[in-house]
Parts: sequence; C-alpha cells; structure tokens
Amino acid sequence: MITAKNICKSFADREVLSGIDLDIRPGTIFGLLGPSGAGKTTLIKIITGQLVSDDGEVNVLGKNVKDLTGADKKQIGIMMDDHGIYERMSCSDNLKIFADIYGVPYSEIDKTLKAVGLAEAAKRPAMKLSKGMRARLRLARVLMIFPKILFLDEPTSGLDPTTMKYIHKLIIEQKERGCTVFLTTHNMEEASVLCGEVALLNEGRIIEHGAPDEICRRYNHQKKINIHLTSGEDLGLEQESDSAAVISRLLEQGKIETIHSSEPTLESVFLELTGRKLEADEEAKYA
Ligand SMILES: Nc1ncnc2c1ncn2[C@@H]1O[C@H](COP(=O)(O)OP(=O)(O)O)[C@@H](O)[C@H]1O
Ligand SMILES: [Mg+2]
Repeated sequence: MITAKNICKSFADREVLSGIDLDIRPGTIFGLLGPSGAGKTTLIKIITGQLVSDDGEVNVLGKNVKDLTGADKKQIGIMMDDHGIYERMSCSDNLKIFADIYGVPYSEIDKTLKAVGLAEAAKRPAMKLSKGMRARLRLARVLMIFPKILFLDEPTSGLDPTTMKYIHKLIIEQKERGCTVFLTTHNMEEASVLCGEVALLNEGRIIEHGAPDEICRRYNHQKKINIHLTSGEDLGLEQESDSAAVISRLLEQGKIETIHSSEPTLESVFLELTGRKLEADEEAKYA
C-alpha cells in the first residue's frame, strides 16, 4: 500500500532522513515512532508528495507518488497540522468546504460530526471549540472522505486521556473498515495499543521495526519473573527451572498477589538503542 526505498533528505547541508525503507501492508495501522526532531513530519510530507526527497522512491496506492492523479489523492486523508480550519465558521460549515473540495455529499457532514462526537457542536464556530473538540473536527475532515489511506501526524499529541482514547477508537474503526493508517507519535504506549507494526526513527534513521510485542521480546535480555507477595514483599526470580518449585510452593500457600514477566516496553527498547527517551518531557513528568 505504501512503500519507500532509500529515502534521503537534507535541509541545507543537514541530513534529516537517511536511507529510509518502508513497506506497509494494506489494512494495517503503522506507527512511526520517534522523539521530536527525528524526521517524522518530513517523512510524512515526502510520502504524501508535499515535499520531494533528494534520493529514493515512494509508491502509494501502487503508483509512484509523483504520478498520483487528483482522483488518487481523494482517497488519501492527511491530518498534519492545525491549519485549514476556518475559525469563524461552524463545525458543519468547515466540513462543507471540505466536502466541496473532495466531492463528498453534504449528507455525510452530520453523520461524520456524530461519529466524532461533535453533533451537539455542529453550529459552534471553530474558535469556540475546546482543544479535544478541535482535534476531533480535524479528524472529521479526513474521515469524511472515506480514505483508503490515512496519514495522521501526531494525532493525539497534547490531548487529555479521554480525548486520546476517543481518537484511538476512531482510528481502530478506520482500520476495521479496511483503511491503511500511517501515524506518527512519540508516545510508545499509544503505539503499543494501536499499531500492528512500528518503526523506531532516531535522527533520521530507522533503528528497529516490527510488531511492538515482537520488538519487545527481541530485547528481553533479563527474562525475569516479578512476584508481589500478599505480605507486600517483592520477589524477582530468574526464568529457569529452579524457579518452578518456588512459584509452585508460593501458589499452594496462596502467597502470590501478582505475577509478571519482565519484558521491556518500546520506551525502554528505544532507550537501550539510543540512550535517549522518546518523550522529551519525560524528565519533567517524573521530576
Ligand atoms: N523546512 C525545513 N527547513 C530546515 N530544516 C527543517 C525543515 N523542516 C524540518 N527541518 C528540520 O528537520 C528535522 C526533522 O524535523 P521533523 O521532520 O519536523 O521532525 P519530527 O516531526 O520528528 O519532530 C528537525 O531538526 C527540523 O528542525
Ligand atoms: Mg513532527
């Protein structure tokens, strides 16, 4: 559905993307995961034909991105930044403009507003929307065209957890109707929940890719079993045959409160590979 081969891009003499290869199968939610400045937005712009790469080739919908026709482009939904919303216009009038551009019947407007939970706010000017409502209006614009491919650049960045979950639900619904979704995020939890496949981007290079749980298993060096006992004590056991008797005895005595294996998260894999955290504000959060 989307393939990229050896994408390279420099701004002035600074290389921002180096040798990016991608192969995204139809009907998947693909996550491009990386910290701020990694090159995510630049890559989306190149794949969607908004920016030309210095080297390499991109194919979308089975065609070189340079050869996409107007009709092809109408099958591609792109949500990138906060531009293109008419502040004084109501939600439904904003969608009307988009419907005109994409040739979508007006009957879809109310349906889409309802689908994103904005039916009540249909007549409200965009500038009077909360941040979460605004995010849903931006999403409504691209969902309304029933895209075959959906590009979402940081769709939940800066949103509250409730809106984030709501948007996740909408993204999963798109996948369920057969849409291929390409999203970027620096939130590893979001990637684990949503994406069938991810690529970790660091300083313009893909340093790891695959299914999130598969990547995490690949970096499971410790192989520990962590047990929290009813007494409040924590126990870390090696994943080896000697531990079986200990666990069995604790189980028989009813002393186990919780038991977990200790595979890493995407966040800790990223940290191991780069020495960097994905979320720039991570330190601040735990300070
Ligand atoms: N038009 C541009 N001109 C010069 N530098 C740019 C331009 N666009 C992006 N960059 C630089 O390229 C790097 C990657 O940016 P970007 O793709 O926006 O990263 P991300 O989306 O992962 O945060 C950053 O260092 C950014 O400053
Ligand atoms: Mg970006």
